[in-house]
Amino acid sequence: MNGPLPLLVAAALLVPAVSLAQGTATSEQVRRGEYLVTIGSCHDCHTPLKTGPAGPEPDMSRALSGHPQDLPVKAPARLPEPWMAAASATLTAWSGPWGVSFAANLTPDPETGVLRDFTEEQFIQTLRTGRHQGQGRPILPPMPWPFIGRMTDEDLKAVFAYLRQVPAVRNKVPDPLPPAP
Ligand code: HEC
Repeated sequence: MNGPLPLLVAAALLVPAVSLAQGTATSEQVRRGEYLVTIGSCHDCHTPLKTGPAGPEPDMSRALSGHPQDLPVKAPARLPEPWMAAASATLTAWSGPWGVSFAANLTPDPETGVLRDFTEEQFIQTLRTGRHQGQGRPILPPMPWPFIGRMTDEDLKAVFAYLRQVPAVRNKVPDPLPPAP
């Protein structure tokens, strides 16, 4: 076997592995998605902070896994004027007039990842409408969906493709808490 044939055979063997891991996403889409997730600051709220020698930093071993299930939050913060909102030390739980919201687990964990039942279409609808899965309950602050939802379809598809193949982290994020009476 001279010439390009062995190379073609090698390529044919590699392609199924890549498409299995990423569904129909192309590696270019995934790279673009990684870029958008990074500069789009998704880690700021969806990756818990840990306190290291240099102060709080994102815990990338739990990247994009949302509010840690082992950090229970029982009630909204009570704040003196003029304060309106407070965040947990992880910057993943947010208390304000809306109650308490918890940053979602965006990793592809089959049991606890929020996107586990989402189609690409529903992901786009979610960020365009500000509703869970594009039709459910309103998504609470400070999730900046009105701005993220301004991405093009192509960019949102790239973000979705990237999120589908980051390392899965099993972490059950709690449901939001209602506002204090
Ligand atoms: C300022 C903090 C913040 C930033 C930045 C942020 N998020 Fe969120 N996100 C949240 C919070 C809090 C929730 C949970 C809201 C709720 O439960 O209603 C959330 C929820 C979500 C959800 C779940 C929606 C649903 O259907 O329930 C998705 C998807 C999501 N964020 C994607 C992203 C992506 C992608 C980025 C970056 C481009 C991003 N977020 C940046 C705070 C943030």
